[in-house]
Amino acid sequence: MPVSIAQIQKWKHQKKPIAALTASDYAIAKLLDKAGVDMILVGDSLAMVALGYKNTLPVTLDDMIRHAQAVGRGVDNALLIVDMPFLSYQISAEEAMRSAGRIFKETDARGIKLEGGYPDMVETIRKLVQAGMPVMGHVGLTPQSVHRIGYRVQGGTPDTAEEILHQSKALVEAGIFALLLENIPADLATKITELIPVPTIGIGAGQGCDGQILVTHDVLGLSDWQPPFARKYVDLQSSITEVVKQYCQDVRTKS
Ligand code: KIV
Ligand code: NA
Repeated sequence: MPVSIAQIQKWKHQKKPIAALTASDYAIAKLLDKAGVDMILVGDSLAMVALGYKNTLPVTLDDMIRHAQAVGRGVDNALLIVDMPFLSYQISAEEAMRSAGRIFKETDARGIKLEGGYPDMVETIRKLVQAGMPVMGHVGLTPQSVHRIGYRVQGGTPDTAEEILHQSKALVEAGIFALLLENIPADLATKITELIPVPTIGIGAGQGCDGQILVTHDVLGLSDWQPPFARKYVDLQSSITEVVKQYCQDVRTKS
């Protein structure tokens, strides 16, 4: 049976950690799914790792849908979540509803994720949830705000930590099914995890979260750059370079 939202919520209470990774294409998605990952996110980080943009801002709703469709064809078991890209949900709740609706109509997404916990966003999320669309929140370092906040740790002072905690509670009250915590101090992430009833999935947020997520290109060593908290399990850049050199040599020597 495929992993459901109810399932990961149960795992929080059973203290069974949730393993999540990103995917942007069919081949990798299929491997992740077969290897037993619980949740697959079609993250808008695909703007950088799959499309070569400098940040996540340029990726469009059409891009996200295209990649989500490819990923969906490879996923049988994992809970498939799709990121809403920059400016597909910020302008108004109405536009967010239309954008989110397209993701559910045109892909196999079983949830969407959008960034931020300010009051307008909380109200937008409430409307999406009321319309039947499961929403995952995302607070802390929100990369779509890179030009305002950079890629720094968030919540490092008592005031900003309090703000992130407050946003997390407001998002829960609006109906999110899970919350992504990115690049915040471990003690803050642990505190949020203990205080809210839905699963927290951390990236650069310490061991205290209910689950962990990383960008698969970082895990595989395929990224040009990766944050220090992203553990590289294998250096595929080196392996692929070696293999391709070998191939070129074989062709050129007619072997
Ligand atoms: O787009 C992405 O990869 C994300 C990460 C925080 C997992 O949102
Ligand atoms: Na993202």
